[in-house]
Amino acid sequence: MEVFEAIRRRRSVRQYKPERVPREVLAKIVAAGVEAPSGCNEQLRQYIIVDDPAVLDGMRAVSKALTGAPAAIVVLIEPKQTPYGPFHTQDASAAIENMLLAAVGLGYGSCWVEGQVRSHEDELRKLLAVQEPLRVWAILPVGKPAEQPERPEKPDPADITYYNRFGQT
Ligand SMILES: Cc1cc2nc3c(=O)[nH]c(=O)nc-3n(C[C@H](O)[C@H](O)[C@H](O)COP(=O)(O)O)c2cc1C
Repeated sequence: MEVFEAIRRRRSVRQYKPERVPREVLAKIVAAGVEAPSGCNEQLRQYIIVDDPAVLDGMRAVSKALTGAPAAIVVLIEPKQTPYGPFHTQDASAAIENMLLAAVGLGYGSCWVEGQVRSHEDELRKLLAVQEPLRVWAILPVGKPAEQPERPEKPDPADITYYNRFGQT
């Protein structure tokens, strides 16, 4: 799929069909995350592909967006300094967006689930056997969409874009 089409089509999907997602698809999505930019190329992110229904069930309390998802990708970060500052959050974010777009390109839906991950981090850490210093940062459910979410309101790029100086159009 052409990149602008994937960007346009991507929506946060929160309802999924139960059909299983082949591991090759999940691995391709993760590979797209690995290709993302990384501050100082420190690569402060790792991934857990979850397709065991028991483990998925254990994660569902985190968000309604995980309900019914047949698979998920958990993004882990290593909160380490680089010579230019702490970039682990940015590293994770770049990988997540790549993966969301890759999912669309492969005909799947996903959603960036991070809001309540922090408050469930201890239980997620136990469930997924994640050791310090790694942190459980975000979860991307993956599956065939069972809904087609409306495009939420977004600004017109022309209203928030300037040329050469702020305010100059
Ligand atoms: C940092 C971040 C955290 C998010 N956390 C959640 C979340 O915990 N649960 C959820 O359902 N959606 C979450 N989202 C998805 C947003 O709600 C969604 O991107 C936004 O409503 C715009 O919709 P769109 O993705 O379809 O354009 C998150 C998005 C970002 C960027």
